[in-house]
Amino acid sequence: MTTYSDHPIQVPFFVGKLLSAYAQKCKRDFTEKEKKAVRRIFSDLNPQKDSIVENFDIISDCYDDFVIFLGYQTPEKIVQELNQLVPLKQCTEDMTLLDAGTGTGLLGELIRSMGFKGRLIGVDISPKSIQYLQQNRTGIYDEAQVGDMTALSHIKDAAADVVASAGVIGLAPKESLDELLRVTKPGGLLIYSLSKDHFDIDRSWEEKHRNFLMREVWQQVEGYPKIYPYYGNELLRHSYFYLFIFKKGKLRFKIC
Ligand SMILES: C[S@@+](CC[C@H](N)C(=O)[O-])C[C@H]1O[C@@H](n2cnc3c(N)ncnc32)[C@H](O)[C@@H]1O
Repeated sequence: MTTYSDHPIQVPFFVGKLLSAYAQKCKRDFTEKEKKAVRRIFSDLNPQKDSIVENFDIISDCYDDFVIFLGYQTPEKIVQELNQLVPLKQCTEDMTLLDAGTGTGLLGELIRSMGFKGRLIGVDISPKSIQYLQQNRTGIYDEAQVGDMTALSHIKDAAADVVASAGVIGLAPKESLDELLRVTKPGGLLIYSLSKDHFDIDRSWEEKHRNFLMREVWQQVEGYPKIYPYYGNELLRHSYFYLFIFKKGKLRFKIC
């Protein structure tokens, strides 16, 4: 298990503070089970699949409230950046966007709010998060399924014009990037966040990115990666993420 032991900030300390601050502000406090799941999510940088499913299943009902409290920025940043490259309002109905690691569907909701009329599909390894999305975000996704990004066997090669992934890569291992590349159409875009902690602690992420660029078909969009604060909450001010955007071959969309 890789933890934040190399990290200057002590996880038990800041998660404890976060949980107390949340208890004072939220609609309802976490149960003990939810608190344990939150601690595990923040402590383990490279969790096993079982533990990801268990933790995100446990917090699926309170996920949206909690990330609002954290000032979680990633879906908004991804949608803003994507919309600058590919104006979402102008996307036609025959376009497909895959939200990889969709969770409770925050990204999809933002994408629709920008006027995206194409096909929106989501996949997440946590069944309870997908269930939450289906019950609470009806009409946003055309299809949302339980699935593991390291093996998206239900998605054909080159199925999506745009693949977007917010707050997932890093939790999902490096092989998941190969799957995302596979399902992106030639001429399509892959946009995702990766925490600075992951990228800085494990240098093989850099190697992985270099490998993409050696496959001639992939190029990094100029000006990326960009770096953003992960959260607006003061207690997490040490957290940042990189936003990567790759294009597969000659871009089919007009980049503004
Ligand atoms: C921090 S949440 C982000 C959810 C959503 N993208 C958002 O921005 O709100 C991370 C999500 O990644 C999902 N996840 C982690 N590993 C995964 C994998 N291998 N395949 C699919 N989903 C995965 C988790 O279940 C969880 O819903």
